[in-house]
Amino acid sequence: MHTTQTMPLITNQDIRFSVAPMMDWTDRHCRYFHRLLSRRARLYTEMLTTGAVIHGDRARLMAFDPFEQPVAMQLGGAEPAALAKSAVIVEKFGYAEVNLNVGCPSDRVQNGAFGACLMREPALVGDCVKAMKDAVAIPVTVKCRIGVDDQEEHALFALAEACVESGADALFVHARKAWLKGLSPKENRDVPPLDYPLVHRLKHALPDVPIAINGGLTRMAEMQEQLQFVDGVMIGRAAYHDPTLLLEVDPCLFGEPAPAADLFEAVDAFLPYVERQLASGERLAAITRHLLGLFAGMPGARSFRRRLALEAVKPGAGIETLLEAVDEVRAARTRFAGAANLEGAEPAETA
Ligand SMILES: Cc1cc2nc3c(=O)[nH]c(=O)nc-3n(C[C@H](O)[C@H](O)[C@H](O)COP(=O)(O)O)c2cc1C
Repeated sequence: MHTTQTMPLITNQDIRFSVAPMMDWTDRHCRYFHRLLSRRARLYTEMLTTGAVIHGDRARLMAFDPFEQPVAMQLGGAEPAALAKSAVIVEKFGYAEVNLNVGCPSDRVQNGAFGACLMREPALVGDCVKAMKDAVAIPVTVKCRIGVDDQEEHALFALAEACVESGADALFVHARKAWLKGLSPKENRDVPPLDYPLVHRLKHALPDVPIAINGGLTRMAEMQEQLQFVDGVMIGRAAYHDPTLLLEVDPCLFGEPAPAADLFEAVDAFLPYVERQLASGERLAAITRHLLGLFAGMPGARSFRRRLALEAVKPGAGIETLLEAVDEVRAARTRFAGAANLEGAEPAETA
């Protein structure tokens, strides 16, 4: 297999660590908070269809804060012309990269004949990538599965080859198949077995192409192990549910200090952004919903979550609601430390 790339727009360092695109989760508020935990993580938007980019309310759907950079927008679509047009809009908005979704298995997406079902159409995916490459100067990348349904190993290689020959700048491979009939999208993220060695073989076959692996990685040690075989790790659910993981990224994967000493410091650094968003009419809950799992496992986590869940949704809820919720954790931590001094360690709240 050969590549037509000469000057890569994306280096292996650029994709060494990324937070996966997640619908309803990795919106701009979530990404801003993640950026406070890692300067080096590459961040991905939720998937946006070409229809939404071309005809939708772009200011609402695509606006982001420059602080989030580097941030990539993921597109859903299967028509080269529409993808090219959308990619131009993505570039004009200032995104660092445009990524094509070849992995989403939902029915809605299948009806539109894009997402994971494109694993069966490498030539079309190649045409899509080429159309986008011809239209923009930012990197064009693809996120795919290892296959769908009963496809064999060569399906991934055919897809990857089509992408690379059309100029794709990097590939992100979710290391499990999508089973298009009978599984919900959620089940399709857990049930089909992971096959990391297949992605390692792909990297071996395409040594010059930046390739990141995705799926099921939750701990830093696992990520470091994967980086012996591929150029990058892309983390989805674990990064969302356990953002402390992101505090480890810069020190452990880039040899640089983390931007915040701990979650408390990160939340403090988040406050001016939250205030700006509230002032511009955003609801507190739209922002704090991404923080609900923040202190999981620490004393006071349950009170933090409960207070945010009950109070932040109230009309007019302001920054003090977030501050009071954090104070619950601080107070519980002090109580816990006091009790531990008196009686020895006691178990943290875990629910
Ligand atoms: C709530 C949710 C929404 C998702 N939305 C997208 C999406 O819009 N585009 C996409 O390519 N993958 C999407 N995914 C899949 C993730 O990007 C990722 O491939 C998958 O969760 C496996 O990685 P993980 O085990 O690290 O979570 C989504 C996953 C979740 C949990």
